[in-house]
Amino acid sequence: MDLDAFTALLTPRGREALAEAQELVGADPVAAATRLRRTHDAALTSAALTQARLRERAKAKFGADAGRMFFTPHGLEQATRAEVAAHRARRLGAAPGPRVADACCGVGGDLLALARAGCAVDAVDTDPLSVAVARANAEALGVADRVTVRVGDAAEVRPEAYDVLFADPARRTSRGRTFDPLAYSPSWPVVLGLLGRARVGCVKVAPGIPYEFIPDDAEAEWVSYKGEVKEATLWTGRPPEGARRATLLPGGHTLTATGARAATGPVGRYVYEPDGAAVRAHLVGEVAELVRGWLPDPMIAYISGDEPVDTPWATRYEIQHVLPFSLKRLRAALRERGVGNAVIKKRGSAVDIERLRADLRLSGDRTAVVILTRVSDKPTVLICDPSPPA
Ligand SMILES: C[S@@+](CC[C@H](N)C(=O)[O-])C[C@H]1O[C@@H](n2cnc3c(N)ncnc32)[C@H](O)[C@@H]1O
Repeated sequence: MDLDAFTALLTPRGREALAEAQELVGADPVAAATRLRRTHDAALTSAALTQARLRERAKAKFGADAGRMFFTPHGLEQATRAEVAAHRARRLGAAPGPRVADACCGVGGDLLALARAGCAVDAVDTDPLSVAVARANAEALGVADRVTVRVGDAAEVRPEAYDVLFADPARRTSRGRTFDPLAYSPSWPVVLGLLGRARVGCVKVAPGIPYEFIPDDAEAEWVSYKGEVKEATLWTGRPPEGARRATLLPGGHTLTATGARAATGPVGRYVYEPDGAAVRAHLVGEVAELVRGWLPDPMIAYISGDEPVDTPWATRYEIQHVLPFSLKRLRAALRERGVGNAVIKKRGSAVDIERLRADLRLSGDRTAVVILTRVSDKPTVLICDPSPPA
């Protein structure tokens, strides 16, 4: 999709074509194109069908708003999920109507959440199409009066002129997704420069960001959504500096470092699998404290305990059997239990799960959770009941 095709979609004729295309989502693509071509030219037909498909896909991130918004394929992929953006915006928007600079807004996932939280946002992006899409989205969601969007480079943003500097650098290169902050765009030195001059700074980064990249004066927050770690956010200019935080959405639970250190001990009655946000934030000791548990292996983030503690921070499994790792013994143990369906998890194990599943040749009508791990550094398997109902 190019800027001309997108601009055509915003005309009354374009909006008509898009409405018709949305009615045809799910229909045979050739039939849908033939139908639209009766009244629209080829370029508008193609733009409308593409946009309708993107809106459909965007429902997973933007819910009902997706039906009114506009996207590009990359813009949608890179956009922050609405619930995650809203959480961040709530944390920023607590002060009355802060003025925020969004240094690389994309199609506007964060920009829109910030505006909805009451912030006034000036946004830039180097890509003219993303700028046009973000602007159209601000209009579509009724927040255009609180937002400006223009083509510009993050390096030229003046954080001093704002209450808050927000940046969500692109983590894609021509070779795909990157986990290296030095490959971000705008570049990591530019982002750090902006943070250094901002009163309050907030930067979204990949959850796997190496700790050495986190500035000493930042609070780092890892966010998971429905059990999947989505991102980390670095906050500067607000206490507590140097803190680590994990947040679970949609519940909104949050956990901060207390310095709790988990003891090590033998495998008990239960194993707890901590949420990935707590693991990334190095808060396993804090979770162990919550469940009154300990670590069977000091280097691995599985917690064990004897009490069935309910917590949003970990999934609990009741252990049925503990055995040293051996394909033959594991196969025999699962056969004996009639396990035909195994949910296989691993930490601290190099075993290829899909290959193991094939080699186990499971049969039976029972389900078990099979955890491959190490205990006192020895490869160990925990056969568990599936988690209790939530
Ligand atoms: C991850 S996306 C932003 C997504 C956005 N927060 C959202 O939720 O929709 C990053 C954006 O940075 C833009 N970008 C890359 N380098 C830039 C630079 N030097 N200055 C401004 N924008 C830049 C890209 O065009 C891309 O749209």
